[in-house]
Amino acid sequence: MTRTKLIAGNWKMNNTFTSATQLVGDIAAGLPNALNAEVWIAAPYVYINTLAENTSNTPIRIGAQDISTHVSGAYTGEISGEMLHSVGAYFVLVGHSERRNYFGETDEIIATKIDAALNSNLIAVYCCGETLEEREAGNHFDIIKTQLHTGLFNFSELALNNIVIAYEPVWAIGTGLTASPEQAQEIHAFIRTQLLNKFGAATADKMRILYGGSLKPNNAAELLAQPDIDGGLIGGASLVEADFNYIINAASTAI
Ligand code: PGA
Repeated sequence: MTRTKLIAGNWKMNNTFTSATQLVGDIAAGLPNALNAEVWIAAPYVYINTLAENTSNTPIRIGAQDISTHVSGAYTGEISGEMLHSVGAYFVLVGHSERRNYFGETDEIIATKIDAALNSNLIAVYCCGETLEEREAGNHFDIIKTQLHTGLFNFSELALNNIVIAYEPVWAIGTGLTASPEQAQEIHAFIRTQLLNKFGAATADKMRILYGGSLKPNNAAELLAQPDIDGGLIGGASLVEADFNYIINAASTAI
């Protein structure tokens, strides 16, 4: 089956309102005419409403970088799925390694967040991946298997229609280090086999698995050509219009 490639930018805590609106406008203007990929941007909460409006006539979809586990109520500072959906968010990142490492998110919390996203008609981008120590100790397959089983595999086959997986080797995020195409493909294939064993061929075949971790113009084509890499979750390079559009182009023309 052909899975449509997906390029998702993750802006993290970057851009002012002015630079955010400018950047999205520039990205939209720079999209190829024959776009053959999906383009998503995970923006800071406070810009979602405007960016979603500004891109409503373009193929770009705007999403959030996090979501509350709670539905509503006395949770000062939290943002619910319903709120996100009501301002035009299309998707939400869940379980990014920065949320896991700096904010103590466990696979259990992350599973609750996926549930919150799905209940609010948002697509959940479930992030998983190993640290450098875990890779050096040769534990990366076990770590990812546990993350998948605890964070994701309690959901139904139907729910998985609204979930995208992002494999992000933590050691490659924001460091300039990248998994080699072979290393990335190896893990992506492993994740797809886990999906196959749990849900069967149809689900394993249609689920998109993105690669994240210093995906840049100079390595995009090679990574995106791997058979089990269905796109990218892109931090640093999504902040630079020329770089992001270059990667979108690479995805759009990848087989
Ligand atoms: P990076 O970030 O592309 O800057 O490594 C990837 C991510 O954290 O999503």
